[in-house]
Amino acid sequence: MAKIDMAKFAKFSKDNGFIFQSSEIYGGINGFWDYGPLGVELKRNIKDAWWQDMVRNPPPGPDGQELRMVGLDCSIIMNPKVWEASGHVGGFSDPMNSCKTCQGLFRSDQLPGLQCPRKPSKPPGGAEDCQLTEARDFKLMFESHAGAIQSDDNKVYLRPETAQGIFANFKNVLDSSRLKLPFGIAQIGKAFRNEINPRNYTFRSREFEQMEIEFFCHPAESMKWYEYWRDLRKNWYSTLGLKSDNLVPREQGKEELAFYSIGTTDIEYRFPFSDDPQELEGVAHRGAYDLTQHARHSGLGDKLGYFDQDAWTADAPTRTTNSFEAWLKTNPPPEQVAKYKFIPHVIEPSAGADRFTLAVLCEAYTEDTVKDASGKDETRTLMKFHPRLAPIKCAVFPLVNKEGMPDKALALYRSLKPHFNVFFDDKGAAGRRYRRQDEVGTPFCVMIDGQTLADDTVTIRDRDTTLQRRVPSSQVKAEIDRALAPQ
Ligand code: GAP
Repeated sequence: MAKIDMAKFAKFSKDNGFIFQSSEIYGGINGFWDYGPLGVELKRNIKDAWWQDMVRNPPPGPDGQELRMVGLDCSIIMNPKVWEASGHVGGFSDPMNSCKTCQGLFRSDQLPGLQCPRKPSKPPGGAEDCQLTEARDFKLMFESHAGAIQSDDNKVYLRPETAQGIFANFKNVLDSSRLKLPFGIAQIGKAFRNEINPRNYTFRSREFEQMEIEFFCHPAESMKWYEYWRDLRKNWYSTLGLKSDNLVPREQGKEELAFYSIGTTDIEYRFPFSDDPQELEGVAHRGAYDLTQHARHSGLGDKLGYFDQDAWTADAPTRTTNSFEAWLKTNPPPEQVAKYKFIPHVIEPSAGADRFTLAVLCEAYTEDTVKDASGKDETRTLMKFHPRLAPIKCAVFPLVNKEGMPDKALALYRSLKPHFNVFFDDKGAAGRRYRRQDEVGTPFCVMIDGQTLADDTVTIRDRDTTLQRRVPSSQVKAEIDRALAPQ
């Protein structure tokens, strides 16, 4: 992807109401961001598209089967035992070096790419009088206290991932939904990590949103599902406008894998601020690790396992009892027990809503040359959002503020408003109004003109080509619906 001047891009993004620095009037706070009026629409559309395409209407599975997917919305603060079981309390940290000269803190694995705060041409430790310490572990979880007394007994953590809420509710979901393997549980929500070096705009923040799926399946089928999710997730980004050339799936090497992971593919994106592609999403084969840990730490033991009723029923003629508990007392071999009761394997596609929003903003940001009203070349900045993600779907304009055009335009605007985010603008020259909508990525502009009054047709202008077509005003909604249909 072509490089973008990120400072210019951040200003553009702020000026148009996409992303603001959090608490900017107080000088901001490193690693925290706010979404403005257009940014919040964009990010909402991203989360809605993910939920629609992955949870409500996912494509068929590898053997053409219907996927069973349900959702959850878990609390951010959970019993701290969850984080002991998951391994976060003991191990969720980054190695860090500090400098005794400038008091700076630096992630050890990023040292070569960072700048010494006093001599930016050198990495930390690179200037003569730098005094870099040995690497030490820096805990990434934010801590707080639940209740009035601030002691270790009521220490709690802000969740560093949404995944554990899903594992902790596995039994609740099974018991309440009567789902059979394979099935997935999805969650969108905030996560918090006290990152040492938040950087690259919103790319590495301290508060961010994840869109995670834990897909539970039979261990024997897990590789098939891993490949399914890896390919599906990469393709999904392309259906929403990221060019496939900018998407790079990267299978993690054995030495990189988390100790419990059987395989992980990072779906990386060529962000314009970096020479190397950077992680957009991780698709991990987590094996039986998480449920096994929670089974042990919660004391629930094999109650957290999955009982395969279909397999049990199919083998009924081979047994003298239909009670699993009674059958266990006959001391069947462990592999026979595991045929009916086992801990499912988990495939986890874990995406960052903010990282995808940033990728969408970078990909959409375009400068081109078009003709102005007098036929002269003019440079315009436009956001080429996919229509499904565009914050505003359609702008409606009266050509002039007379001859009943504003009333007609308002009537069309009001008829579209219940269905999409629509914008009405009757201020200034038509060309200027088109440019404003190009700049915020509105895919369609509809003009009410003299001919509308005669035959109830309108012009509909395409943002990317600037071409205009005349259609009956009654067809405008259908035109937009067509562009918004998932591919
Ligand atoms: N449950 C697995 C998990 O959390 P991860 O690779 O640490 O895995 C998943 O995070 C995704 O969350 C990443 O691919 C990224 O999109 C997003 N993410 C992680 N840390 C982030 C941060 N500091 N700022 C913004 N997004 C982040």
